[in-house]
Amino acid sequence: MNLVDFFRNPRQSDPQVDGVLLADFCAAEAARALAFHQSFREYAPTPLASLDALATDLGLGGIFLKDESKRFGLNAFKVLGGSYAIGRILAERLGRPIEELTRDALASPAVREKIGAITFVTATDGNHGRGVAWTARQIGQKAVVFMPRGSLRERVDNIRATGAECHVTEHNYDDSVRIANEYAERNGGVMVQDTAWEGYEDIPRWIMQGYMTVAVEILEQLRGLGVDAPTHLFLQAGVGSFAGALLGGMAAALGERTPVTAIVEPHQANCIFRSLRAQDGHPRAVTGEMRTIMAGLACGEPSIVSWGVLRDHAAAAVSCADRIAANGMRILAAPRPGDPAIVSGESGAVTTGVLEYIMKHPDGRGIAAALSLTRESRVLLISTEGDTSPETYRDIVWYGNNFD
Ligand SMILES: Cc1ncc(COP(=O)(O)O)c(C=O)c1O
Repeated sequence: MNLVDFFRNPRQSDPQVDGVLLADFCAAEAARALAFHQSFREYAPTPLASLDALATDLGLGGIFLKDESKRFGLNAFKVLGGSYAIGRILAERLGRPIEELTRDALASPAVREKIGAITFVTATDGNHGRGVAWTARQIGQKAVVFMPRGSLRERVDNIRATGAECHVTEHNYDDSVRIANEYAERNGGVMVQDTAWEGYEDIPRWIMQGYMTVAVEILEQLRGLGVDAPTHLFLQAGVGSFAGALLGGMAAALGERTPVTAIVEPHQANCIFRSLRAQDGHPRAVTGEMRTIMAGLACGEPSIVSWGVLRDHAAAAVSCADRIAANGMRILAAPRPGDPAIVSGESGAVTTGVLEYIMKHPDGRGIAAALSLTRESRVLLISTEGDTSPETYRDIVWYGNNFD
């Protein structure tokens, strides 16, 4: 296996489907989600760093990095999806539009009396479950969270610290989702899952719409800096909900100026890469043990809601070895003079590692050419998490472990 595998997606922007798929990611939907998030006391836009020295070093016009470790004090972007989906679920139960509901309204005794006690159920590698559990606690409801085999202690502890029940299963992520779903059905819980399957699409769509807050903030921050929209975007993917939301949001907002977008995954869980490479429009799954340090990306089945967006709008897919993510973490932790240091975890830093490989490694030249990455390019990266596993973070950044 190569350190980095690359596939240029020939199926881009089919006008037949554009309108239908992108309607879910339009400015009005993004504005609704943002307004809901703004009703939380913890809300503040996360920083967008301009890594000028790194851009010069890599031969690019600019690199902008959104730091989601600062999101709601939870060290990852994921809470944006879980919280908004819970808001939409309660809005539906109350028969009121989401625009009328704030965090405080949902936590109020009047609402509590009307809807009663609800148990939100989910499966997670850590970040999504923490977001769901945190939101449930904020509004005085309960959460039950299932995690795949091998989940790290700190991630389990972070979820239990919110008061949620948390069970580590004997299975991988995708099977843990099925276990959580069965639990919800048996116990009258409400499944809040960040991936979609046949017949379960509304909640994952709301989760994606919640993620669009990241895109709205970025476009606003770039405008504030007087910088044009990015020409290139690298998005990491597990089930692809995050990538679909960001790319869908950008495509809906920017149209023809949508950045050339590459979807990035670990070799061991490269379901979007395989799905795009198959070129028949249908998603492919990766099954079994997915051994990668990128826990957030260790998902083998693409979400059917995001798949169409990625299939029709992603320019390329990249699949890479764990050491590429480890490099990304070190590059961000030990910046060139003038650039800020950024604490970025395994799933957060992989796109930085991929960009450095493409621009610096002799085997990356063909990829840079295929993506038209030049001195004029403005590249957007999103560090989707901080050190969500502090021990692994130190192993990699302090002690140089690559885990391969
Ligand atoms: C830190 C981090 N980045 C990226 C992702 C990928 O998101 P998705 O599964 O929607 O593709 C996840 C998913 O859990 C994550 O935790």
